[in-house]
Amino acid sequence: MTTFLLPNRPITSLDGYLATETGGLGVETAQRLGSKAAIEMITAAGLRGRGGGGFPTGRKWAGIAGQEGTRRYLVCNGAEGEPGTFKDRALLRANPYQVVEGLIIAAFAVGAEEAFICLKASFEREIAAVTRAVQEFQSAGICSDCTVTIVAGPEEYLFGEEKAMLEVIEGKPPLPRWFPPYEHGLFAASPQEGWEAGPHGSHRRTDEPNPTLVNNVETLANVPHILARGADWFRSMGTEDSPGTAVATIVGDVVAPDVGEIELGTPLRAVIDAVGSGLADGRSVKAVFSGVANPVVTAAQLDTPVSYEGFTTIGSGMGSAGFIVLDDTACMVDAAYRLSRFLSIESCGQCPPCKIGSSEITESLERIEIGQGDSTDIASMHGWLERVTDGSRCYLAAEEQRLVSSVLRAFPEEFAQHLEMHRCPRPAKRPIPKLVDLVGGHATYDESFWRKRPDWTYDPV
Ligand SMILES: Cc1cc2nc3c(=O)[nH]c(=O)nc-3n(C[C@H](O)[C@H](O)[C@H](O)COP(=O)(O)O)c2cc1C
Ligand code: SF4
Repeated sequence: MTTFLLPNRPITSLDGYLATETGGLGVETAQRLGSKAAIEMITAAGLRGRGGGGFPTGRKWAGIAGQEGTRRYLVCNGAEGEPGTFKDRALLRANPYQVVEGLIIAAFAVGAEEAFICLKASFEREIAAVTRAVQEFQSAGICSDCTVTIVAGPEEYLFGEEKAMLEVIEGKPPLPRWFPPYEHGLFAASPQEGWEAGPHGSHRRTDEPNPTLVNNVETLANVPHILARGADWFRSMGTEDSPGTAVATIVGDVVAPDVGEIELGTPLRAVIDAVGSGLADGRSVKAVFSGVANPVVTAAQLDTPVSYEGFTTIGSGMGSAGFIVLDDTACMVDAAYRLSRFLSIESCGQCPPCKIGSSEITESLERIEIGQGDSTDIASMHGWLERVTDGSRCYLAAEEQRLVSSVLRAFPEEFAQHLEMHRCPRPAKRPIPKLVDLVGGHATYDESFWRKRPDWTYDPV
């Protein structure tokens, strides 16, 4: 299979990039064809957003481009805060130039007057790489008149949520606003936001909607290749509904956690072997989580194709192809507790059922895990799982609901064992795989996360 997003050796200069087979051809093609035809090519290619939701990229672009008489903005989402995912950082390390070229094409296609590239402030290496790439494109005259701002954002998971990301760009904390970016974009005033019509930095707030296109790093990385080689070339890889490749992350109980580019439609079992080097001798897979937003995948479902439709068929979701593998020695109550804790801590509390519900569910899971739970904890969890999404502004509450319900459904016997034995029968604990680094088969996790409190301050000890 052709892999095109992850080169064998990192590309570290614009000259090096332009010397590759397709470097720079995408932007040339887009300019030659015009914005409408460029959007049509992305639509024909069937590219879908790689940030987790899988929304058709061409349709998103056409929706933004179609809104006349208002300013438009573009945001590249490189916040990458979901446990088990490292692919955007891997892409920015390997070839930041294709991401910037994709950004230039997207800005041209939707008529954006300004673009923002958002990364966490802690991603110092990736910020340096992408800043350099932007400067090189500008000084080479490929986008000399583009205004591109690199935004170094907070550590919070919600920073990656698109409505929260717009708030951060505007200088506020990562608290999701009500309306989606295509309806209520950057620097737009509205009653829901308190009519902040005054100037904001160098931007004047307007009472126009300023539709804003938000695309993930990997989504934009695909764009120049599609423009340069055509929709049919892209569709020659992957499946009918999920064309192309995905840059997958495999962490957890595998021999060598890593990031690798796979053809969409490859069975999950083969992806775990190819990217994560499989499991240690004698161990087998008990469960796989695709990030923290989707129902658990069980051992019986390991032949599921890694594609949007493949995961939908088993009632789960592919997410951003970041997979957390648990072997047969793992405790599923503990796994649910850890991931639920992550979500409850990261919940911002603007919608009380989300913050209170996810915290209550986490506490029940912890009590059951340490042998102090009883049947009232199970009943309380079911009650909160029904209400946790009530009135929610963003998808985080649904993530809690989908993930915890699925573990209760798939592994009821493990909950029963904990209640009967008043202890955990499988006490080997795993870290929460919030990745700080992933290199040479070695994953480094953010250990400070255990000190993070529900109000986003950190316990000093
Ligand atoms: C809690 C939460 C966190 C998210 N974090 C990210 C992230 O780190 N990176 C990302 O690209 N999308 C993230 N998303 C999805 C974005 O809101 C958005 O859908 C995506 O950036 C759109 O880009 P795409 O169409 O190219 O996939 C998150 C969503 C939620 C609900
Ligand atoms: S659903 Fe949860 S995380 Fe999202 S805005 Fe509401 S409280 Fe915050």
